[in-house]
Amino acid sequence: MRKTIVAGNWKMNGTSESIKALLENITGGAINIDGLVTLVCPPAVYLSQVVAQTADAPVSVGAQNVSAQPKGAYTGEWSLEMLQDLGCEYVILGHSERRSIFGESDAIVAEKVAAVLEAELVPVLCVGETLEQREAGNALAVVSSQIDVVLQQVGIEGFASTVIAYEPVWAIGTGLTATPEDAQAVHAAIRSQLAKHDANIAENLSILYGGSMNAANAAELLAQQDIDGGLIGGASLKADEFLTICAAAAESRK
Ligand code: 13P
Repeated sequence: MRKTIVAGNWKMNGTSESIKALLENITGGAINIDGLVTLVCPPAVYLSQVVAQTADAPVSVGAQNVSAQPKGAYTGEWSLEMLQDLGCEYVILGHSERRSIFGESDAIVAEKVAAVLEAELVPVLCVGETLEQREAGNALAVVSSQIDVVLQQVGIEGFASTVIAYEPVWAIGTGLTATPEDAQAVHAAIRSQLAKHDANIAENLSILYGGSMNAANAAELLAQQDIDGGLIGGASLKADEFLTICAAAAESRK
């Protein structure tokens, strides 16, 4: 059965003190039920602090990025071996901010997904269209081609251990959210794209929605058949909002 995953992408926010306080509240209220994963993805410099602080809590830890290279002269990067060393389980890849600000192409993202799978961590592969692409009627084509490049690299078997996050770029950090119906349509399209290769893998794949998910809209989004959790930015920096979303996710599994 599919997992429901509520993931906080903290982006480049926090200090050791604010993160300690945020995590105290999150771990204090974290819900421990079968099939629900609560995941936090802090800035890389705080990963070891967060892994230590979540050791006894039902909270998993992920990085926001990683190099596809094993080691060497790559100033400013970090490797999968380092993430394994810290006890990190998940890695967000291909976030639209990495694609648009840092120039990560579909090919680079696919290479990183392959490296993360090879290291036996779980990639959280982000896909999504810009407003221009949506208005031109190309949302599904864009998302499908982003996934195709990864499929060519890792094969359908790679998706047995991958999480996908659909994040429409125009909904990220804007307060705009895809309607539950529009989001569901894209999630269903992603699943059927993969089902053509392997129905079982597609059925068990967790597809998260990201883009201004918050305490007020989470329940409605999570009630959709193919929305299996959220990748949350702003609202994940407030423990009460994040925990409300986790509670809605737990409810959606009933
Ligand atoms: P917001 O929830 O702030 O829109 O961010 C979404 C996101 O980019 C999560 O990765």
